[in-house]
Amino acid sequence: MVAKRSLCLLLVAALSSKCSRAEEENQCGLYLATSSTSTAAEPKWGIFAGKSYSKQSRIGFGDIAIHTHQMEANALSGEDDEDLLTNIVDFFENFIWVPHPVGGQFELDEGKVVTAIPGGGTLSCFNPKMTNADWNHSSAFFREPWNEEKGVSHPGRGSYSTFYEASIHATDDIEEGMEIFISYGENYVNENSDDNEELSKEDMKKVDMTVNKIVEFFEKHQDELDEESKNEIYQFLIRDVMQAAAGEGKGKIISEVLPDTPDELRAVIASGGVLDYSQPSLVRSTEWLEQHGRCMDNIRPGPSTIPHAGRGAFASRKIAAGAVVAPTPLIQIPDEEVLNMYDVKVEYDENDGTEFHVRNGNEVFGSQLLLNYCYGHPESHMLFYPAGAGVSFINHSKKPNAQLVWSKHPNHHSHWFQLEPEELLEEGNRYLGLLMEVVATKDIAEGDEIFIDYGDLWQEAWDEHVKEWETLKKRGVVPKRWPTRAADLNAEFATKPYKVGANYPENVQMKCFLVISKPVDEEPMNANGDKVRIWTKHKTKETFDSSNLFDCTLIDRQDVDDTYEYSVSWRSVADPSKQTIVKHVPQKAIIFVDKPHTSDQFTPEGFRHYIQIPDDVFPEGPWRDAAVAEDEE
Ligand SMILES: *[C@@H]1O[C@H](CO)[C@@H](O)[C@H](O)[C@H]1NC(C)=O
Ligand SMILES: *[C@@H]1O[C@H](CO)[C@@H](O)[C@H](O)[C@H]1NC(C)=O
Repeated sequence: MVAKRSLCLLLVAALSSKCSRAEEENQCGLYLATSSTSTAAEPKWGIFAGKSYSKQSRIGFGDIAIHTHQMEANALSGEDDEDLLTNIVDFFENFIWVPHPVGGQFELDEGKVVTAIPGGGTLSCFNPKMTNADWNHSSAFFREPWNEEKGVSHPGRGSYSTFYEASIHATDDIEEGMEIFISYGENYVNENSDDNEELSKEDMKKVDMTVNKIVEFFEKHQDELDEESKNEIYQFLIRDVMQAAAGEGKGKIISEVLPDTPDELRAVIASGGVLDYSQPSLVRSTEWLEQHGRCMDNIRPGPSTIPHAGRGAFASRKIAAGAVVAPTPLIQIPDEEVLNMYDVKVEYDENDGTEFHVRNGNEVFGSQLLLNYCYGHPESHMLFYPAGAGVSFINHSKKPNAQLVWSKHPNHHSHWFQLEPEELLEEGNRYLGLLMEVVATKDIAEGDEIFIDYGDLWQEAWDEHVKEWETLKKRGVVPKRWPTRAADLNAEFATKPYKVGANYPENVQMKCFLVISKPVDEEPMNANGDKVRIWTKHKTKETFDSSNLFDCTLIDRQDVDDTYEYSVSWRSVADPSKQTIVKHVPQKAIIFVDKPHTSDQFTPEGFRHYIQIPDDVFPEGPWRDAAVAEDEE
């Protein structure tokens, strides 16, 4: 690989740039490998850049987002199995929790939505000093309507997630081989770490500047200082002065990170700063990644070639028979019951009166959509949520070109096969210790759709569902014409102007990304007493971020050049009697979302079935805790 690349570079000089481009596309852009934050006691996967990413560019491909509704409340049964179920929810939500990058917070009007976003979302580690990536909300909100099939009532409705293109982008230039750390949000940092104990990237820059100054100082006074006084001054600088300047907590970390003697400071500068000096394994060589990692961007999403199947996974480069299509760490779910859905009700905490939700009765009315993305086996109560990038887009075929196998990576813990399902969540095992790989069973060309076999039971259940759907449609239980969804309207109004005063369907809600400033050439208050503001782009933060998304109503429209601007009315939730008029809102800042409880996922007749791990792959032993197949015969 490396030899090929340098050869390529030589040829580039001699011939044309074609060679380098082709080679670049073949080069893996993203690897799954052991994180720099991994320890023997708690192994962690990480994501590494296989090529350099410039600031603001997208990392990998957009992924699917699967919303879970009230998972915790559904687990609070008041019965004996509650401990296990809440334990599973805890573990699961540790990895998975952000509805905001894709708009999941609008799915329920009360209660908790936790959104599973595989790939970058679940697997990139947390390291507040090193954050170099963040969600790009607009890529999911303004996703292209791949196979949305406006108005068509087909059996795929409600059986797959309609949320996708959940993407992360670089917030800094990222060099080849660097580990990717996503921003967990300010709240997370505040809740989960003592501010004083962490060095931010800004801190690191300041320390680097100080290191330079210290080196200059010792150079200047080289002749006057002997070794002993040099060391004495150095210790004084890095301990007492640093603590006085940075505070005790941070000062202590800084002195631990810096070398013991001033002469070694040059090594800090040479390695590119204190950050790289203190954590050299943050950057891995391509050879290391090739050997110890697994390429994670061989597949990209697109509209599936199967009718009514929504999105599918396609080869982004050619993949030889036997090669890994995609790696996928699994999140172990010891009891499938955790995905059952019940009616829920509000209760109040005895001590502080805070509101929370619990199960109301024990009648199961459905399953979380997540079930359709989990791997399972008919002889087991266990499920496994695959967290690999793009893997959840892979659809089913009886003539597949890929299959699921266990990985031979040393961090795949096949000794877990001998543990009881519950043991997989015991202290000491609460990490992602299972790795599967989707492996090509045939040569796959670039652009081919990837298929695995979901199993005979899945196929039977699906065939049954398709028949049932047609019957229900005839009887009018499911609509003959599917209601218009937010995604349909967003596609329609990508370029077409909105009509002021138009009636849009009841099940959608218009929202505007609003960042505002006071007007300069008009009064900040109009004759009716409404505040007047001007739409503006955020100077330092992302404007198209869902924290800036508010309900809005169009008041008027101006045609500007080849696009449109609107004045909109915005009312704060705190005081809806007052409105603010925001002027010059661009077309691209306006979007529809589905109202709570209305998106396709809520279809009661939606299909639910796990994807089967092939029988010869699913381990014998304690995981086969359900022996249903034999009982039924
Ligand atoms: C976010 O994604 C959108 C749509 O793909 C793109 O136009 C925009 O440049 C991206 N923004 C950043 C900051 O990466
Ligand atoms: C395609 O895959 C999705 C996700 O696993 C699934 O929900 C859907 O039913 C599949 N469709 C077909 C036709 O296989």
